[in-house]
Amino acid sequence: MRSPLETLLTDDPARAAAFVRDGGCVAFPTETVYGLGADATRAEAVAAIFAAKGRPSDNPLIVHVSDPSLVASVAAEITPSARALLARFSPGPLTVILPRGPSVTASVSAGLPTVGIRVPAHPVARAFLEHCSVPVAAPSANRSGRPSPTTWQAVEADLGGRIPCILRGGRSRVGLESTVVDCSGDVPLVLRAGSVTLEALRAVVPGVRVAGPGDAEAARSPGTRHPHYAPDARVVLLDGVGHPGAGVAWIGIGPAPSGYALTSSHADAASYAHALFDFFRTCDEAGVRRVECVRVPRRGIGRALMDRVERAARASDPERRRSEP
Ligand code: TXA
Ligand code: MG
Repeated sequence: MRSPLETLLTDDPARAAAFVRDGGCVAFPTETVYGLGADATRAEAVAAIFAAKGRPSDNPLIVHVSDPSLVASVAAEITPSARALLARFSPGPLTVILPRGPSVTASVSAGLPTVGIRVPAHPVARAFLEHCSVPVAAPSANRSGRPSPTTWQAVEADLGGRIPCILRGGRSRVGLESTVVDCSGDVPLVLRAGSVTLEALRAVVPGVRVAGPGDAEAARSPGTRHPHYAPDARVVLLDGVGHPGAGVAWIGIGPAPSGYALTSSHADAASYAHALFDFFRTCDEAGVRRVECVRVPRRGIGRALMDRVERAARASDPERRRSEP
C-alpha cells in the first residue's frame, strides 16, 4: 500500500496551480461541484487523477480552461451549435463535447475522438486555471462511487491523504454537475442534465435534443453507463407523505414533516438541488437506512435534480445491489 500523502489545504490559487504545473493533481472549487484537476496535456498527470479517484479508465474527463477564448486551444473544431451555446452560457455550468484537439492527451477522452470542455464561472476556479496556464482535465473530486463534493470538507473526507493539495473555496453554488451537450454531430444532444436547462439551451439552439437510448452518442457517453452513486441507504421517490421513523430521512420542497431522523426542506428546486449531494453524505454519516426524496416537476433544474435522484434510487435498489457487487 502507498503511504498517505500530506494534503496541503490552501486558499491561494497560485500555490495550488504550482502543483498542476509540476504534474500533480489538485482539487479546486467550481460553481457546480469541486473538481480534481491535472495537466490535460500530460498522460502521467491524467493517470494520477484516475488513480486518486479509483475511476474506471473508460470514463472520459472534462477539460477546463480559464476563458472562453481558450476553447479553441483544446478543440479541433468549434461547431456552430457549440459557438452559440458557449457565447450564451460560458463561463458557467455548461460542458460542450467537441472534436478533440492535438494538445489534449488521448487518455483524457478515454480513447474517444471528442473532448468535453468547460469554462467555470467560479472566480477562484478561474484564477486557479489562469495560474495553471495549461488546460486542466478534471472530473468531480470524489472517490469513484461517492457523491460529487460540494464543499472542500467533502473533498478532504474522500481524497485527503491521496492528493497533494486542496484549494479551498466556499460551498458550490449549484450543487449538481454541469449540463453536458454533445455538439460534435449535426444535432446537439444533452448527455447530462444540469442547471443550464433544456429550455434555456433551446432558446439559443432550438434543435437541441435530449439523448435517448437509441443515440450512438449517448451509448458512447460512459457517464451514463457506469453505476451511479447511491448512499448506503435505500433512496425512494415519492409524491406526498412517506413513512417517517427512526433511521428514515426526508428531503423535498415545503415544510419538513415530523417524525424523521433527518430532514432537509426547501423553498424551490434550485435549493433542493444545491443540498442533495451534501444531504446524501450526511445521511451516510448518520446511518440512515431510507432516504425519501419528494418528486419535483421535470422542468428547469427539476429535470437535472430528478435525473440524479432517479439514478440514486436505481443504484440503491436492493435487487440491483445483490446482482452488482
Ligand atoms: O460540473 C462538472 O461537470 C464537474 C466540474 C468539476 O466541472 N465535473 C464533472 O466531471 O462532473 P465528471 O467526470 O464527474 O463527469 C463528466 C461527465 C461524465 O458523465 C462523462 O462520461 C462525460 O462527462 N464526458 C466527458 N467527456 C466526454 C466525451 N468526450 N464524450 C461523451 N461524454 C463525455
Ligand atoms: Mg463525477
